[in-house]
Amino acid sequence: MANRALVNLLLLLLIKGAHSDVYFYYENKCSYPVWLAARPSVGDSDPERGVETLYIFPMPDQWSGSIWARTKCSFNASYYFSCETGDCGSGIKECQNPPPALPVTLLNFVIKLPVVSYEVSLNHGFNVPVRIKPDGGSLINGAGPCPVVDCIGDIASVCPSPLVAKNRDGRYVGCYSACDVFKNPRACQPNAYSKTFKQVCKLAHTYPGGHSDIIFKYENQCNYTVWLSARPSVSDADPESGPGTLEIFTMPDQWTGSIWVRTKCSFNDSYYFSCETGDCGSGTQDCQSPPPTYPVTLMNFDIKTPAVSYEVSLNHGHNVPVRIQPDGGSLVGGRAPCPVVDCVEDISNVCPSPLVATNKDGWYVGCYSACDALKDPKYCCTGNFSSPAACQPNDYSKTFKQLCKLAHTYPHDNDPPTYKCSGATSYNITFCPF
Ligand SMILES: *[C@@H]1O[C@H](CO)[C@@H](O)[C@H](O)[C@H]1NC(C)=O
Ligand SMILES: *[C@@H]1O[C@H](CO)[C@@H](O)[C@H](O)[C@H]1NC(C)=O
Ligand SMILES: *[C@@H]1O[C@H](CO)[C@@H](O)[C@H](O)[C@H]1NC(C)=O
Ligand SMILES: *[C@@H]1O[C@H](CO)[C@@H](O)[C@H](O)[C@H]1NC(C)=O
Ligand SMILES: *[C@@H]1O[C@H](CO)[C@@H](O)[C@H](O)[C@H]1NC(C)=O
Repeated sequence: MANRALVNLLLLLLIKGAHSDVYFYYENKCSYPVWLAARPSVGDSDPERGVETLYIFPMPDQWSGSIWARTKCSFNASYYFSCETGDCGSGIKECQNPPPALPVTLLNFVIKLPVVSYEVSLNHGFNVPVRIKPDGGSLINGAGPCPVVDCIGDIASVCPSPLVAKNRDGRYVGCYSACDVFKNPRACQPNAYSKTFKQVCKLAHTYPGGHSDIIFKYENQCNYTVWLSARPSVSDADPESGPGTLEIFTMPDQWTGSIWVRTKCSFNDSYYFSCETGDCGSGTQDCQSPPPTYPVTLMNFDIKTPAVSYEVSLNHGHNVPVRIQPDGGSLVGGRAPCPVVDCVEDISNVCPSPLVATNKDGWYVGCYSACDALKDPKYCCTGNFSSPAACQPNDYSKTFKQLCKLAHTYPHDNDPPTYKCSGATSYNITFCPF
């Protein structure tokens, strides 16, 4: 098939001093016009892009959404606008909020200037070949220039027959994703269909399984800024969370790790990033693999979609009050609702003096765990104390427990048990929830 049609989306990232702007350069190399569409709308009221045109569009500073191309669009006799593929059901040229008619090749972006995340996704199929090519810039984790991603392979000739999308005249117009056609979890994981896509489009995402439905909502109710941190990293390029902000994250499908916050962070004159508590030693805002500097209040998660185990742990001390509150869902293996766990009391008033952590100026900034401060196997539950029977509460852990009954206060603390929840709409994680 000789349809080498291509919407070439050229993304130009200009960074000038403190102010940065991002422009999308849309180049239509298809042999037919396309009508651009964005969800949420970016106010492009004249989205028609003729053959061989270049169109420059300034994007918002903060925008998270999808872009796609509609094909064969026209008005009918009652001036109702519709398209053969990618139609957005608005009846006018500008798309509004509803999702597009499938299948469409999606260009997904998260813009939080100066950072732009981008992908070409076949999670909802394929209609038009596309490429995203950043002009300059570099990857956030320092691993080189920003790569091209695209899907320009000949999907039409490999589209498995159950996935073929046709127009009224029975002609091929696109290829559905297996997930959208079969609507079951296995069809949304890597499978023979997604592999067919992958062979032709190596740089595109070909199944939704990598993106889970596990939503974390972080709400910072502290009257100071915190910097969200996760180990292993979940690639949060902009972890700064000011007082009163709410951040919403989709977590990986499978993830076992810890979340904490850093406090009083800043860059020094050589642009090295560090924090008074919870520092992760990376020198940048995004934590990488090393563990945090203790003390930190840890929230530990084990995500195996759809189940999520969660605990608040003081095993490495305490820096900021936290709460984990599943929104809905029920405990795995029962019908009970998923309980809150937290540690919201003022630990500073009870922190035993050998455990007090101070900053350079000698002010209290957190409370170490007995294990981290005193390194005694009895507190760390190591060596002769490693068995659950030998690992017992101690005076220090009991002090924590009096204030924070729902947190784990020593290594084998299982009271309350580590809850395992399924079906929650989100996990609300609140800092300073007073
Ligand atoms: C135009 O399309 C709209 C939406 O499908 C439909 O309601 C309307 O009747 C159509 N008008 C004509 C003249 O075909
Ligand atoms: C934040 O709250 C604490 C305790 O409520 C208070 O002592 C402090 O002055 C507040 N700081 C600011 C910047 O409002
Ligand atoms: C910034 O911090 C880093 C890491 O501690 C240090 O190596 C560097 O010398 C500091 N730069 C300045 C200007 O203080
Ligand atoms: C979770 O957070 C959302 C958004 O802030 C809120 O609407 C919802 O009520 C919260 N749910 C619970 C159980 O706290
Ligand atoms: C562990 O316990 C054994 C037997 O009670 C004792 O001989 C040994 O010294 C202990 N080890 C440590 C490191 O305390």
